[in-house]
Amino acid sequence: MSANSRSLQKAMQKEMQDFTAMSEDEIQQRIVAAKAALGDRLIILGHHYQREETFIHADVSGDSLKLSRSAANSKAEYIVFCGVHFMAEVADIVSRPEQISILPDLAAGCSMADMANLANVERAWRELSEVREPDEQITPVTYINSAADLKAFCGAHGGIVCTSTNARHVLDWSFSQREKVLFFPDQHLGRNTAFAMGIPLEEMVVWDYDLPMGGLTPEQIKNAKMILWKGYCSVHQLFTPEYIDQFKEQHPETKVIAHPECSFEVCQKSDYVGSTEYIINTIRDSEPGTRWLVGTELNLVNRLHEQFKHENKSVHFMSGTVCMCSTMFRIGPSSLLWILENLLEGNVVNQITVAPDEKEHALQALNRMLEVSP
Ligand code: 13P
Ligand code: SF4
Repeated sequence: MSANSRSLQKAMQKEMQDFTAMSEDEIQQRIVAAKAALGDRLIILGHHYQREETFIHADVSGDSLKLSRSAANSKAEYIVFCGVHFMAEVADIVSRPEQISILPDLAAGCSMADMANLANVERAWRELSEVREPDEQITPVTYINSAADLKAFCGAHGGIVCTSTNARHVLDWSFSQREKVLFFPDQHLGRNTAFAMGIPLEEMVVWDYDLPMGGLTPEQIKNAKMILWKGYCSVHQLFTPEYIDQFKEQHPETKVIAHPECSFEVCQKSDYVGSTEYIINTIRDSEPGTRWLVGTELNLVNRLHEQFKHENKSVHFMSGTVCMCSTMFRIGPSSLLWILENLLEGNVVNQITVAPDEKEHALQALNRMLEVSP
């Protein structure tokens, strides 16, 4: 596109501020109308943590794995991702080249994903290769909550991506390839999954990316099967085992369910551990009258509370304080409408594109994941 046509397009673009003064009702009605006008050219994917006013417009809702599959299978020209940045990147990687992936607010990142970057992962890789035994190899595994260049790193180094749904299958595959795993950025998903597979905590170490050699001795690295990156989710780290104990003192019959991004202690005290989709399905399939304490993001827990109260199931949040994913929250109805009305006028705003060389290797790692996923 020439500089002239770019500035013409810019001039024709609807500006975000035009939408912020509108009433909620008008925004909602105009989203419905824009979706109808775009028809099959559009698919809106919505993560379970989206706030209700946005979530209701999703054509498909799901966890990271389900939404990645929906993006890969969609024929729509525009994939609008109501989620966070890494999700829209995955949509761009797995979709066809002519499809366009859009994130309604570019500031919707993931603070956990930001805890690992290519420079510090490459440094860790170099330092680990200096101390590991000559006949020992390491599989790099990145949680899908990571930037595209880290997925590409895994693709190029015989590694793989995982989500909270398939982490166990991915680790089984990883250990069938090589003796050790370097798992980033979420230490909790790595630890909880490996422990459930029978790997003892003594065979896991935490790699502190701010310190030379991860703050570990060569001996510690030699004895470890799992090298866990020192990353975490700021939302899920707020849940505590003490809260579970206090709640169960008052309601001993409670079933506890947690996302695997929660700490080891919280997961150990939980009756069930799994992805957002797993949490929804488990509560849906439970007996009427069941009381649930749920350790995951507040918007999802509030939705579950509303959805199942008519079946006499009571769903409680695992914290006395409000903890939401503030970046998921950024995708409001006004930014969604801004995107859709621009598309109707032929303007693509907030497109997410991954560079072709990164895309090739990131796709390799994502395809390995999809092949081993249940
Ligand atoms: P799920 O894939 O389980 O939906 O998790 C995504 C996420 O970011 C949880 O914090
Ligand atoms: Fe990232 Fe945590 Fe938000 Fe999930 S809940 S998107 S891991 S910051």
